[in-house]
Amino acid sequence: MPTAPSFLYGTAWKEDRTPALTEMALRAGFRGIDTANQRRHYFEAGVGQALAAAYRAGIVTRDDLFLQTKFTYQGGQDHRLPYDPHADLTTQVAQSMASSLEHLGTDHVDSYVLHGPSSGAAWTPDDAEVWAAMVKERDAGRTRVLGVSNVSLRHLSQLEATGAAMPAFVQNRCFARAGWDRSVRAFCRERSIVYQGFSLLTANPEVFHHPFVRDIAVRTRATQAQVIFRFALAVGMLPLTGTSDPEHMTQDLASDTVTLTADEVRAIETLAG
Ligand SMILES: NC(=O)c1ccc[n+]([C@@H]2O[C@H](COP(=O)([O-])OP(=O)(O)OC[C@H]3O[C@@H](n4cnc5c(N)ncnc54)[C@H](OP(=O)(O)O)[C@@H]3O)[C@@H](O)[C@H]2O)c1
Repeated sequence: MPTAPSFLYGTAWKEDRTPALTEMALRAGFRGIDTANQRRHYFEAGVGQALAAAYRAGIVTRDDLFLQTKFTYQGGQDHRLPYDPHADLTTQVAQSMASSLEHLGTDHVDSYVLHGPSSGAAWTPDDAEVWAAMVKERDAGRTRVLGVSNVSLRHLSQLEATGAAMPAFVQNRCFARAGWDRSVRAFCRERSIVYQGFSLLTANPEVFHHPFVRDIAVRTRATQAQVIFRFALAVGMLPLTGTSDPEHMTQDLASDTVTLTADEVRAIETLAG
């Protein structure tokens, strides 16, 4: 598995600002980029424009980067589809991947993620078909590893029960009130799957504004956001940030320098649930 950087820059919801913000993130020092071939929320071709500009400017080379994109079912898309909606799912995965590689100007990504299973309730035969198609993409060298996103413990257990290859990454919205996705993180830890957490700040205002976190921020001369990202790193997560603010970019990358005690990490882990 390629070593992922310790922070991922998320490119969702940036529309026309995607090229400039992604390039800014690369200049700030991010080396991991998360996107998706889902025009509704992401402008993947704009990420590709930023990469091309950064290569031209000599900021990075392709080999310096960890690029992650996603396959999204039609239900999660608008009319701007990266595949033929009448094709079977296996074909849709191949078409979506080919389109992603074109958008990103590369012959492979580092991680290819199933954006979400087809049902919130269970791992379905459609998911099994898509997953098998993604494994084929990996075997063909178009991605180094695979991941799944927006999954429950039940999805993961059912995927495992099919006997298919397991993901290298799980990417979930991480709610502090659920012990920061405690059960899914434990499943991942036991199998050496890296857990990627998103919405760490926005899903958890009760922790962000908690006096305990504020006091740690004062003591460590860090921001509350840095304390939360440092906590995420301390419990083994790979955090995402999609900040549009250059100062926040620098601060987020520096959050690994914040010192938390083991007691503080344990306390934050159970602060909200
Ligand atoms: N798999 C999925 O289904 C899925 C879903 C959602 C997101 N994602 C991925 O995760 C990425 C991150 O999304 P997110 O939901 O975590 O939200 P986000 O886009 O990172 O938004 C964070 C919010 O917190 C604010 N903020 C304040 N201080 C900050 C600081 N120091 N550092 C960072 N943000 C700060 C940001 O404002 P400023 O811009 O002013 O800093 C922004 O409004 C996305 O871009 C996407 O790549 C994946």
